[in-house]
Amino acid sequence: MPELSLHPNIRFFPNAASSVAAEYNWLFWALVVVCGAVTLAIACFVVYAAIRYRRRTEDELPPQIEGHFGLEMLWTGIPLFLFMGMFAWGAVLYFDIERPPRNATQVYVIAKQWIWKVQYLDGQREIDALHVPVGEPIQLVMTSQDAIHSFFVPDFRIKQDVLPGRYTTIWFQAEKPGKYHLFCAEYCGTKHSGMIGWVYALDRQDYQAWLSQGAAEGSLASTGEKLFHQFGCANCHHFDGHGPCPDLRGLYGRQVMITKAPPVYADEDYIRESIVDPKAKIVLGFADIMPTFKGQLTEEQIVDLIAYVKALGPAPGERLPTSSGSTPQEYGTTPGIGEPGASGNAQTEPGIR
Ligand code: CUA
Repeated sequence: MPELSLHPNIRFFPNAASSVAAEYNWLFWALVVVCGAVTLAIACFVVYAAIRYRRRTEDELPPQIEGHFGLEMLWTGIPLFLFMGMFAWGAVLYFDIERPPRNATQVYVIAKQWIWKVQYLDGQREIDALHVPVGEPIQLVMTSQDAIHSFFVPDFRIKQDVLPGRYTTIWFQAEKPGKYHLFCAEYCGTKHSGMIGWVYALDRQDYQAWLSQGAAEGSLASTGEKLFHQFGCANCHHFDGHGPCPDLRGLYGRQVMITKAPPVYADEDYIRESIVDPKAKIVLGFADIMPTFKGQLTEEQIVDLIAYVKALGPAPGERLPTSSGSTPQEYGTTPGIGEPGASGNAQTEPGIR
């Protein structure tokens, strides 16, 4: 699909810089062409009929015509075929855009009036900027600290609302190195129009160089581990399965049995809810004793804790800890994180236990 542009600063269309952009453009233009053709055909027919069948004398009575089965089938069938085709094409593309590939790298985005805060699993943090490698899928896990915002990168053809109190996700794969505009696309207060930034798509090499520039505070999971001890979570959530609160190893991505409710899937939203509103869902076999941490933790700290819980234990489908609580060799998804062992130690240094 050619880029439409008269002048570099006068563009009819954003760049197509992500893996879904080209197909998105084809669908868009197909809709424009089909709808344009239908509109034009109807308009022409209206003009033609107005002239051809105009009243010629004052007392003229037109002949009465009663239905035409073939014609009716035709004008029902053709639009049905066209619109169902558009629906099917749109649905396929929608699933592509909504379902991240399994190997997507997660990046956390926290919106607040009026900035975008970005946190990488390795610990890099930036504001109003997002660095990504070209040719690799990136999944954004996003939440808001205040109003509803919307993460919008026109060149990637992605737009997703960012809501307070829950996580929404969107994924993309940048195909061309470059610098792409990021907008907030939901009116969120006086400086909404200034809530903009850049997405930098870098070659693998440049991306590595950028990554190595620094994660001063350690990975998200290791920061989360510190918080886990600092806020006393470790006092109840033991890793030997005998604590007063559930063992969190291998929690992420698994089904959890809940008292007086159907089982839930332990995703980011569930973990977040369990931190800020622990009474909402009580794990089967445990007492309702956990205090709420609402207001005590920032959204960044909650994200850190979630990263820690995710790093604790195998990815879904991998080996779980043995029943005795000893650690399998390949345990853990992030190096240096969380060798399990009952611990109330408040002075834990991440990775140096
Ligand atoms: Cu944030 Cu508009």
